[in-house]
Amino acid sequence: MIIQESMLVQSQREIAHNIFEMKLQGKLVQEIQAPGQFIHIRVSEAFDMLLRRPISIASIDQESDEITIIYRAEGDGTRSLSKRNEGDRVDVLGPLGNGFPIAETKAGEVAYLIGGGIGVPPLYELSKQLTAKGVTCVHILGFQSENVVFYEEEFKALGETYIVTVDGTIGTEGFVTTVMENLSEQFATYYSCGPQPMLKAVQEMYANKKGYLSFEERMGCGVGACFACVCKTTERAEANYIKVCSDGPVFPAGVIAI
Ligand code: FAD
Ligand code: FES
Repeated sequence: MIIQESMLVQSQREIAHNIFEMKLQGKLVQEIQAPGQFIHIRVSEAFDMLLRRPISIASIDQESDEITIIYRAEGDGTRSLSKRNEGDRVDVLGPLGNGFPIAETKAGEVAYLIGGGIGVPPLYELSKQLTAKGVTCVHILGFQSENVVFYEEEFKALGETYIVTVDGTIGTEGFVTTVMENLSEQFATYYSCGPQPMLKAVQEMYANKKGYLSFEERMGCGVGACFACVCKTTERAEANYIKVCSDGPVFPAGVIAI
């Protein structure tokens, strides 16, 4: 069930340059069904910022009714969110969307989790859940530069982790595909979230593998009512569009035309 709730800010800290980790507590945590779902946040009460911002759920703790989100404070809305302090309340709508299907990968199998920039956060909860059921996770995480890398140790605690930076300041220099080229293709499933050019490259490289991609499209309502997030599918049918907010944001590879 989707609910709108005034969630309590448990903590907020800057974990890399302009990258914030915020912990929120509230009842909607009990409604979360899968890693990769997101929340829609009213970042400020100001009239010019009525449009909510979609942010992925990076970690879930249902025992303490707490979720973690990780976001880049770049535009006016997310910068305003980064000013919230412990004890403040944030207006949240969620959980939204369909997340990553973890049942697709069985215990004993290997999964590749491939993330780019602010697409990395939802892969953390995904890796926690896959690892807990006995899947071996390999993480390939791409960033622009060392100063925006986050959760390296957290991912390493769950499994093999490759860090890639465009400028080579940490890890391998290049893109996630630079690492993928040298990795075995002996894995069952891949899961990916990040900018569209990255998703396209990943999908092309693993064209013969089972994979799931999460799309970060611009959104309005977040619940399927406004058509702001519509994307074309690869189907040749007349109505070949799909809503990323309510039909996704996670789709099997090959469904969205990229
Ligand atoms: P502004 O420029 O003030 O935004 C203006 C408008 O454009 C807002 O409506 C905003 O929502 C929209 N917008 C701008 N850039 C984007 C973008 N890249 N994607 C979607 N809408 C955008 N970012 C994170 O940092 N961490 C996450 O975990 C994360 N998860 C996401 C999950 C989903 C399903 C989607 C769709 C997006 C996610 N994003 C995430 C991207 C995030 O929503 C945007 O970066 C953010 O909305 C930008 O808002 P702003 O106030 O910084 O920018
Ligand atoms: Fe309104 Fe998807 S954001 S339909």
